[in-house]
Amino acid sequence: MAARSRLIDLASIPTVAQLYRTKKLLPAESIDSAFPASQHLNDSIALILNDITKLDIDCIVNAANNSLLGGGGVDGAIHRAAGPQLVEECSELDGCDTGDAKITKAYELPCKNVIHTVGPIYWDRSQRQRQDSSQPETLLRSCYRTSMELAMQHGLKTIAFPAISTGVYGYPIDLAARAVTQEVRQFLETHAGVPNALHKVIFCNFEPRDMNVYAQMFTQFLPPTPEDLRIADQSAGPGVTNGI
Ligand code: APR
Repeated sequence: MAARSRLIDLASIPTVAQLYRTKKLLPAESIDSAFPASQHLNDSIALILNDITKLDIDCIVNAANNSLLGGGGVDGAIHRAAGPQLVEECSELDGCDTGDAKITKAYELPCKNVIHTVGPIYWDRSQRQRQDSSQPETLLRSCYRTSMELAMQHGLKTIAFPAISTGVYGYPIDLAARAVTQEVRQFLETHAGVPNALHKVIFCNFEPRDMNVYAQMFTQFLPPTPEDLRIADQSAGPGVTNGI
């Protein structure tokens, strides 16, 4: 029973709007006009520091490898929590290309599905030699985009991402957070109002240092709306310095 009590439901995962309104996120000094404030975005993107295997939502994304047969890090955590049937299903998928995504059931996990994606290996020079230096960023953005597209194709409304490629694959967390925050913003803007539109995209970090990086990126690319600021002004206390 103890394990079950540690599950995190959607209502417990704060959106960007809620983080501003409770002063857990403080506005940046200056706003980049290329990224105007949007209530739709601030209500649709969420951030939490937790173990992604505990999230009781529609789907969680796994930072897998090309074999899809499990590994360490979040891949290991997801397979351990899902149980042996997950790797059995994965073994029938014939692997996954870097930047692509494939979906499976979730078995003993609280979520409904797992979307497995393979991030770029940042220090793998072969990826750079093949194309221009943006190759790792292009592939990383593709991981998030193809995972969200796959979730929509399966009618899933809430999806959580770990910080893909920023562990074993060595992608600098600040560069990754910058790229994927913009990618998710762009995807939600482009797909707003379409049938099967996603309701929540959650960034689920495991390291406190990652939370602070995402908090900084959110203040730059997901600024508060006037309503977010109005409510924040009414709430007591000085707020934190984006150390969520
Ligand atoms: N919940 C959420 N995030 C987690 C969890 C967890 N339980 N465990 C680890 N993480 C975070 C790490 O802190 C890191 O920020 O996931 C992020 C991605 O790190 P890795 O799991 O190392 O994934 P990645 O860098 O994409 O490397 C993938 O590692 O485990 C192998 O099989 C995997 O070969 C693949 C490679």
